[in-house]
Amino acid sequence: MVVWLLRRRKSEMGLCGGRSIVSSCRAVVLPRFGGPEVFQVRDDVSVPDLKPQQVLVRTRAVSINPLDSRMREGYGRSLFQALLPLVMGRDISGEVAAVGSSVHSLTVGQQVFGSLHPTAIRGTYSDFAILPQDQLALKPPQLSHYEASAIPFAALTAWRALNATAKILEGQRVLVIGGGGAVGFSAIQLAVSAGCHVSTTCGSQSVGRALEAGAEQAVDYTTQDCETAIKGHFDAVLDTIGVQETERIGIQLLKRGGHYMTLQGETAKLADIYGLAVGIPMATAILLKKQMQYRYSHGIEYSWTYMRADAEGLDEIRRLSEIGKFRIPVEKTFPIAQVREAHEAKDKGKVPGKVVLEFD
Ligand SMILES: NC(=O)c1ccc[n+]([C@@H]2O[C@H](COP(=O)([O-])OP(=O)(O)OC[C@H]3O[C@@H](n4cnc5c(N)ncnc54)[C@H](OP(=O)(O)O)[C@@H]3O)[C@@H](O)[C@H]2O)c1
Repeated sequence: MVVWLLRRRKSEMGLCGGRSIVSSCRAVVLPRFGGPEVFQVRDDVSVPDLKPQQVLVRTRAVSINPLDSRMREGYGRSLFQALLPLVMGRDISGEVAAVGSSVHSLTVGQQVFGSLHPTAIRGTYSDFAILPQDQLALKPPQLSHYEASAIPFAALTAWRALNATAKILEGQRVLVIGGGGAVGFSAIQLAVSAGCHVSTTCGSQSVGRALEAGAEQAVDYTTQDCETAIKGHFDAVLDTIGVQETERIGIQLLKRGGHYMTLQGETAKLADIYGLAVGIPMATAILLKKQMQYRYSHGIEYSWTYMRADAEGLDEIRRLSEIGKFRIPVEKTFPIAQVREAHEAKDKGKVPGKVVLEFD
């Protein structure tokens, strides 16, 4: 069925209103939580009808985020267990195959990229994925699909921390702990583009890339003592590692009134252990306690920051990519049929950077 559809002319593909042009397609399905071996590539996974604001995307590439691997292992089970089997994946780059009745910003045949929310139910590891129109933007033309698919989830995570939480301003000082990863490298580029002075910690292989992207200082955490090497105090610290040690250092290096933001919030973890009804209020109480403690002891704002879809953010990220001021390097690509091998390579740390799955 999919082969037949792909042979249809693009103009024909847009004439389906709210009904999806496909009723089923190939997708990577997670029938139970576990290692990469649990993935199944199935040919008959249903494609729901489009809601008015939704877009059907013919997938060309999806990137693997740490969230995908953690979800595969059971992170978020308080929400996702009852919904198994799941289609995995957040990031996507592809082509608009059909649009819902209220979609006016995109048309069939356009090349787009975007990302689903962390809690979205049907993911993007699928020949056809469905996303709300405001979670997609036109793909920067000079980027291939696999390059574009590496960007949205990580970049929007950094965007939310810097722009929605810390509300960074030109001239401010920003510290990115973990500038070698996709979110950290995104944060360096976004903060530099906003006119901030950026310092970062990263592995030796990432130092050159961080400096090239405009960081004023890149401290190699594998050979240097970050605490003594980083000079001065910061308006915002984005901690992508979020362990006790990085939190302690990040807090010490903030100015009064500055923002410490960690990506390792505990809401999902506590909900998985204690259930949604107990875990979420418990997480809220822990967060409030830490916020009050740090406000009192250091005069700083403390937050757990999460990726959220953001149309304005995605548009700015697209603009920066188009003018060559934003990119996320892709280390390796795999065909979607080798999704198990790709996840295994990430799990075992065989590929340090971004891994992308390509669709034929
Ligand atoms: N809360 C959310 O909504 C959200 C969203 C996205 C990601 N995350 C989480 O944020 C983390 C980063 O995500 P990502 O996509 O950027 O992952 P990633 O691309 O896999 O990056 C991880 C990087 O962390 C660096 N690193 C490890 N230990 C370090 C240390 N002690 N100091 C400095 N850098 C260190 C390594 O960089 P080097 O190569 O430089 O050593 C590694 O490449 C993951 O844990 C992910 O689950 C959370």
